[in-house]
Amino acid sequence: MDMKKKNLLRQLGLKAMNPGACAGTRWISGGVGELPSVNPATEEVIATATLPGQSAYEEVVEEARRAFLSWRLVPAPKRGQIVREITDELRRKKDALGRLVSLETGKIFEEGRGEVEEMINSGDRVVGLSRDLNGLTIPSERVGHLLRETWHPLGPVGVITAFNFPVAVWSWNALLAAVCGDTVIWKPSPKTPLSAIAVQNICNAVCEKHGISGVFNLCLGGRNIVGEMLVRDPRISLISATGSCAMGREVASIIAGRLGRAPILELGGNNAVIVMNDANLPLAASNILFGAVGTAGQRCTTTRRVIAHKAIAVELRKMLVAAFGKVKIGDPLSPRTLMGPLIDADAVENMMEALRHAVAEGGQVLCGGKRISGKGFFVEPAIVAAHRDMSVIKKETFAPILYFLECESLEEAIALNNDVPQGLSSAIFTESIRHAETFLGPTGSDCGLANVNTGTSGAEIGGAFGGEKDTGGGREAGSNAWQWYMRRQTTAINYSGETVLAQGIQFVS
Ligand code: UN1
Repeated sequence: MDMKKKNLLRQLGLKAMNPGACAGTRWISGGVGELPSVNPATEEVIATATLPGQSAYEEVVEEARRAFLSWRLVPAPKRGQIVREITDELRRKKDALGRLVSLETGKIFEEGRGEVEEMINSGDRVVGLSRDLNGLTIPSERVGHLLRETWHPLGPVGVITAFNFPVAVWSWNALLAAVCGDTVIWKPSPKTPLSAIAVQNICNAVCEKHGISGVFNLCLGGRNIVGEMLVRDPRISLISATGSCAMGREVASIIAGRLGRAPILELGGNNAVIVMNDANLPLAASNILFGAVGTAGQRCTTTRRVIAHKAIAVELRKMLVAAFGKVKIGDPLSPRTLMGPLIDADAVENMMEALRHAVAEGGQVLCGGKRISGKGFFVEPAIVAAHRDMSVIKKETFAPILYFLECESLEEAIALNNDVPQGLSSAIFTESIRHAETFLGPTGSDCGLANVNTGTSGAEIGGAFGGEKDTGGGREAGSNAWQWYMRRQTTAINYSGETVLAQGIQFVS
């Protein structure tokens, strides 16, 4: 490994071999195996983590449970100050952590930095929120009474994250949960262990300074060891999980079986952009390009379908094919690169399989779609002329494939937009207020995110993030998403000195 990479690892507290579990600020080495982190651009091992076993999991959960007992008593604005210091540290380490994310996921450095920026934004927001976890006072129907709603800390929260946003999705959940008075156990994707360890190091440095342990905890692992253990564990008050629809279904049914709080699920997306006949086409094309090719098509919010009005379809198609053809593919750390590799060989195979399936169903590959030979999991982004009866367009393939569909009216476009099992993100490009507001109205897009004249990806942290149908219904990050990480208590207070029953009931003999 070159010196630059060695320095980067050192800067983030990483070594060639790293412990994969951290109970509070105490790292636990050893375990049941090793987890090498592979750079998808070179297929070289960046560094390795140990794979913790059941005993490490136990230590981590016990630490999170123990820490919750005192953390919940720390005033929320003081909890916010700890998050503020973590956020300051993220600011200082933005380039280094962004670079590591880029190395480990293959997303370009610009997007790696963007991801750390998203963490910083999340931190800044929840520091403010720590003074704003407001309840309600509600008028009572009874004389000398009042009603109140208070929000209390909930307990340890399990945060399961995916490889594609290995640090930002943690921050939406963990920084918010910490401010809410919860403690956090993080199970990152086994494909991106180093980014998680680097973030844990940042949290540890701040927590150690304040003599705090157990608010932020880490346990690497796979689906069975750690993933399923967390989901089945009654000591865990809430699970927030990002990943596939299949994973979400399993998580939801296990938790329903133990009557746990409904998990926050952010699962697959199959996001469409509608381009109307009155759209600003260059604007639409550049947003679709970023939406489809950004992060090599491996965002939950990636644009997977274009629904073009037939009046502009030919022109838009031409623009997109030209734009896709100019995408520089290669080393994610080179400033000229727009698209890095896919995460691994399976991802490449899944893309090829989807393209074969599309062609078998009558789709026509308009550009790209080839595997690039040599080291690294590189592919060309593809556009496929598709029609509505193809089953492949209803599936989320985590790769840069854009299905191009045509429509004759807004109503038809909305029907196509909604005619998939997933419901995460959507967008319309139009200059017409009637088109835009219809798309946003009750008969419009059925997705959790619906944008106008901006693409399907790149949501800001201020809004609640998540989607409907097979996307799982969860909401993370902004708006009032914090409430799901807290326990609501409704109180009636009688200051009248008399017994006054609600609903006018008289209960005297
Ligand atoms: C994801 O892909 O799981 O909206 C998260 C976006 C990013 C987050 C994506 N802010 O594209």
